[in-house]
Amino acid sequence: MNPISIEGLTKVYRDKKRRRVTALQGLDLQIEAGEVFGFLGPNGAGKSTTIKTLVGQIQSTAGCAKLFGIAAGDPRARRRIGYLPENPSFYDFLTAKEYLSLVGRCFGMDRSAIERESERVLELVDLHPAAKRKIQGYSKGMVQRLGLAQTLLHDPDLFILDEPMSGLDPLGRALVKQVMIDLRRRGKTIFFSTHVTADVEAVCDRVAVLVGGKLQTVNRVSELLEKGIEGYVIQLPSATAGLWSDFEARPQSDDVCEVFVPRGKFNSFMAIAGREGVEVQLIEPRRRSIEQFFLEIVRRETE
Ligand SMILES: Nc1ncnc2c1ncn2[C@@H]1O[C@H](COP(=O)(O)OP(=O)(O)O)[C@@H](O)[C@H]1O
Ligand SMILES: [Mg+2]
Repeated sequence: MNPISIEGLTKVYRDKKRRRVTALQGLDLQIEAGEVFGFLGPNGAGKSTTIKTLVGQIQSTAGCAKLFGIAAGDPRARRRIGYLPENPSFYDFLTAKEYLSLVGRCFGMDRSAIERESERVLELVDLHPAAKRKIQGYSKGMVQRLGLAQTLLHDPDLFILDEPMSGLDPLGRALVKQVMIDLRRRGKTIFFSTHVTADVEAVCDRVAVLVGGKLQTVNRVSELLEKGIEGYVIQLPSATAGLWSDFEARPQSDDVCEVFVPRGKFNSFMAIAGREGVEVQLIEPRRRSIEQFFLEIVRRETE
């Protein structure tokens, strides 16, 4: 049973003047156990709408979403997930420690498990020093990290995170990525939304692009990076510069020149290098980034 199964999911909101706002149109998506799945889309794409439906915060207009085969919103499904909403906010008169204790009780954990696990997760998100301070004195980044901590407390198998890196400084982002990588290593499934392509490149197995409430593509990140190879930047002794007149070449230093070899010409380049006995010093693929891939889709859909 897939951790997440979404079929034909559609959501129509009514705005203040009762006009229909279609936030999501016929979304189909299957998330497999053990994968980190990035849900990428610009603002207003429908990411949070999807996530709120998955956790039972809102009802869909049509279609269905299931977690581990159980209808989304059913308390039995909710018990099995760790959920980080976008812009989390907490009872700020509590300390982080008190808040986690409340969360632990909601999940039916006993006192000793709460004590042990809250220590563990506070350490993981680097909030230990502030654990006994009231949340009202926390920075935005600390609140976000507490949000992540409460998803980890009952050690669920599925994490649903709405923009987990938002509002964090570079250190905080690195910390969240590391937490995600560690969860993946432990076989957990993570479904998270973002509008930042670098986050996808760093941690995801697969990525879906959502624009205007419609699913545009689902890809394996490794394949996107592989397909995105445009050619190779190759460093060679500058004494060989005369051999590369067919390629774009430029001097790099007195001893080294750099040649750009398009993907399709790599074999003919290697044939020359082999024949002439040239010592290749460095080969680096030049990639079309996920950012470019994403921007092309968004521009095509919004034009
Ligand atoms: N409660 C609501 N009432 C009316 N429209 C809404 C409501 N929530 C979201 N929307 C609209 O639905 C669309 C998708 O929003 P959302 O799911 O929050 O996108 P994302 O999370 O990708 O930024 C947007 O056009 C947004 O304005
Ligand atoms: Mg959102």
